[in-house]
Amino acid sequence: MAGGFVSQTPGVRNYNYKLTPKVFVTCFIGAFGGLIFGYDLGISGGVTQMEPFLEEFFPYVYKKMKNAHENEYCRFDSQLLTLFTSSLYLAALVSSLFASTITRVFGRKWSMFLGGLTFFIGSAFNGFAQNIAMLLIGRILLGFGVGFANQSVPVYLSEMAPPNLRGAFNNGFQVAIIFGIVVATIINYFTAQLKGNIGWRISLGLACVPAMMIMIGALILPDTPNSLIERGFTEDAKKMLQSIRGTSEVDEEFQDLIDASEESKQVKHPWKNIMLPRYRPQLIMTCFIPFFQQLTGINVITFYAPVLFQTLGFGSKASLLSAMVTGIIELLCTFVSVFTVDRFGRRVLFLQGGIQMLISQIAIGVMIGVKFGTVGTGNIGKTDANLIVALICIYVAGFAWSWGPLGWLVPSEISPLEIRSAAQAINVAVNMFFTFLVAQLFLTMLCHMKFGLFFFFAVFVFIMTIFIYLMLPETKNVPIEEMNRVWKAHWFWGRFIPDEAVGVSAAEMQQKSV
Ligand code: BGC
Repeated sequence: MAGGFVSQTPGVRNYNYKLTPKVFVTCFIGAFGGLIFGYDLGISGGVTQMEPFLEEFFPYVYKKMKNAHENEYCRFDSQLLTLFTSSLYLAALVSSLFASTITRVFGRKWSMFLGGLTFFIGSAFNGFAQNIAMLLIGRILLGFGVGFANQSVPVYLSEMAPPNLRGAFNNGFQVAIIFGIVVATIINYFTAQLKGNIGWRISLGLACVPAMMIMIGALILPDTPNSLIERGFTEDAKKMLQSIRGTSEVDEEFQDLIDASEESKQVKHPWKNIMLPRYRPQLIMTCFIPFFQQLTGINVITFYAPVLFQTLGFGSKASLLSAMVTGIIELLCTFVSVFTVDRFGRRVLFLQGGIQMLISQIAIGVMIGVKFGTVGTGNIGKTDANLIVALICIYVAGFAWSWGPLGWLVPSEISPLEIRSAAQAINVAVNMFFTFLVAQLFLTMLCHMKFGLFFFFAVFVFIMTIFIYLMLPETKNVPIEEMNRVWKAHWFWGRFIPDEAVGVSAAEMQQKSV
C-alpha cells in the first residue's frame, strides 16, 4: 500500500513508505497484548453469573439472586461481588506506573513480557482457587499483567507503524481486546452449562492461553527504533527502521528520532517534566481521554451485559447469548475504525461515534424507564426487550469505531518521546481507575438511579463530544516525533508549546494553517 494520505498540518514532513510484511507481522503479534485485557473483561461478567461460582464464593448474593424478583434494578447489588471484578483494575493502575520505567529503561517488549508472565500466574491462582483469598490474589496478578501490557503495547504499535497507517495498526490493540472479549463470552456460554465447579474453573483458567501468546510474542518481537535510540543502540535502530520501512532511505525519519532522543536526554524526570506548561496539552489529553472513555458507560455493557439482559427478563442462557451478539457487533465495528481512521481522521470518528452513542443511550433510558418505571417491577415484552438489545447494539457500534480504539490510539501518539512512557502510564492509570469506579458502582447505581443511569452517561457523552470538537487537533498521518507541530498550530494549545520545540512561532503556525 503506498503512503497515500498526507498530513495537513503545516510544516509536518510526510515520509512516503510502503507497508512491509515485517511491520505487518510485528504489529500483528504486538497487538496480541490486547488479548489478556479483553479475555478478562469478557470472562468476569459471565463467571459472576454462574450459580456454582456464586454458591462457592458469594453465597449471600446467590441466595438473594434466587429469591428476589421484587426489584429488578437491585437484584445483583453486592459490593463484594463487584470487588471481585474491579480489584483487577486497581492492580493494573498501580502496575502501569511501574511499567512506565521498565518500558523506558529496558524497552517496550520487556513490559509486554512481564505483563504476560504475571497474567499467566494469576490465571493459575484463579483456575485453582479454593477460597476468596486465592481468587483475589489471582485477580490482582491478572491486574498487574493488564497494567504492563496496556502501558507498553499501544506505544509499541504507534512507534512501529508507518505514520500514514499508525491509526490502523494501533487499532489492532482494540481489535485484540474485543476479540478476547468475544472468545471469553463464547467460552462462558459453554462452560456455564457444565455442572459443578468445573465450568468457572475452565473459564478463569483458560486466561493462561492469551498470557502465553503475549509472552511468546514479546520474546520474538524486535524493539522499536525509538526505544533502541533512547537506550543508546543507534546503529541497531537504523537497521531496524530500514527493515520495517522496507527501504534504506529512512534518513529523514531517522533524524527525527535522533532529535527526539536528544531532546529526551535533557529530561531526567519524565514524571516531573510532564507537569511543565509545555506538556500541558498532552497532560490534559492523557487524563481526559481515558476518563471520558470510561464515562461513555461502555463497561456497563462489557461487564454486565449478561446481568443487564437478565434484568430485562431474559433467561440466563439467552443473556449470555445476547452478550455474545453485542461482542461480535463490537468486533466487526472496530474494523470500521481500522479502515477509516487514517483516511477520515480521529476527529470525525470521535464526533460521529459520540452522537450515535448519545442518541441510543437516551432511547435506551426512555424505554427502560417506561417499562420498569422507578419502582423497578414489571415485565418487559419480548418485542420491547429485543428493541432494547438492538439499541444497545447501535450504542456499542458507535463506541467501537470511536472511543474504543481511539481511547488507546490518541494518548499513545500525542506525546514527545521524553514524556511518552509517563504519559501512557497516566493514560492507563486514569483508564483503570474509572474502569474500577464504574465496575464497582454500576450495580449500586443501577439500584438507585435506575433507568436514569443511561441519562447520566449520556450527559458525559455530550460533554466529551464538545470537548473533542474544541480541544483535540487532528493527528492522522503526522509522524509521531513531529507531533509538537500539531499542538503548536492549535488555536488553544499553541500558546503552551515553545517556539524552539518546532522552530516556528505559534502565530506563524496558525497563519499557515488558515
Ligand atoms: C476499553 C475498555 C472496554 C473495551 C471493550 C476498551 O477500549 O478501555 O474499558 O471494556 O474497550 O469495550
